[in-house]
Amino acid sequence: MLDIRIEKTTAPKQKPVDESKLGFGRIFTDHMFIMNYTEGKGWHDARVVPYAPVVLDPSALVFHYAQECFEGMKAYRRKDGGVQLFRPEKNAQRMLSTHDRLCIPPIPEEDFVQAVKALVEVDADWVPHSEGTSLYIRPFTIATEAVLGVKAAAEYQFIIIASPSGAYYAEGINPVRIYVEDQYTRAAPGGTGYIKCGGNYAASIIASEKAHKLGFSQVLWLDGVERKYVEEVGSMNIFFKIDGEIYTAPTCGTVLPGITRMSCIELMKEWGYQVNETRLAITDLMQAAKEGKLEEVFGTGTAAVISPVGELVYEDQSAIINGGKIGELTHKLYDTLTGIQWGTLPDEHGWIVPVCK
Ligand code: COI
Repeated sequence: MLDIRIEKTTAPKQKPVDESKLGFGRIFTDHMFIMNYTEGKGWHDARVVPYAPVVLDPSALVFHYAQECFEGMKAYRRKDGGVQLFRPEKNAQRMLSTHDRLCIPPIPEEDFVQAVKALVEVDADWVPHSEGTSLYIRPFTIATEAVLGVKAAAEYQFIIIASPSGAYYAEGINPVRIYVEDQYTRAAPGGTGYIKCGGNYAASIIASEKAHKLGFSQVLWLDGVERKYVEEVGSMNIFFKIDGEIYTAPTCGTVLPGITRMSCIELMKEWGYQVNETRLAITDLMQAAKEGKLEEVFGTGTAAVISPVGELVYEDQSAIINGGKIGELTHKLYDTLTGIQWGTLPDEHGWIVPVCK
């Protein structure tokens, strides 16, 4: 259990008045959580302090060799005014796996959750009230040791910031257009595709820039070896409903094990769907679309929630999905998941962790 020092701001910022204009990740709350790591001492000095710039030595390892990683989670405002988290222990577990891959010392699951709760409690008034809004929480770890050798750092900071946010995509729950990337790849076996490190995202920007210029919201990545099998989308996992069955890429090394992905799989299995976590070739997917068997496509992610896909473009072929409209299953998943998250539906799975009443 962490001993967290709380230092409240003496100059609180003006909270956003018009919650319909929040956007995603542009406004930050009054406080942040910080904890330091020093070799020989472990994690220490856990504190919630006023939100402020972080001062680092220019030679800090994070700037040079990108020993950095992050998580994404949300706090939701219930109708009765309370605030709750969704499966925070899953973020803690994924962060542990990420730290392990990047040779960063572990943060125990209970400490991670305690730190998130501490920040959300202090900034509870920042959790927005309007439908579809939430407090996006961004825990991250950076290597702060000041040295230029390529090695695991001896010093780190674990920081949590929070941002009242609306929909991640400008489209909201309206279907997005996705470009199947056939030049660049995101992840290869043995690499870092299964963890949330900034480097994965840095390397992906060139493809999303290209996709944006062509009028698409995101790219769908193919596997890094054969450029044959569908893997994930820039900021979400992706599911396909083909002839009544559900397909999504397996999380065996190159795909991020999404918490929304995991929750959707559990829900769909309960609803009686056959969910195949299996490799699916892009050519088979486009063929299914041609034959009218590709019924629905949707992305899942903490930021994106459930995002219907209305069109997929691969090379010179376009597949319009469900007439470019949100499908029935996609809608049901969105309603169920957000209902549980915002507390309008009962939490039958034990996924909800209350922060304040
Ligand atoms: C999230 O969904 O929380 C993510 O971390 C994706 C991010 C790149 C916006």
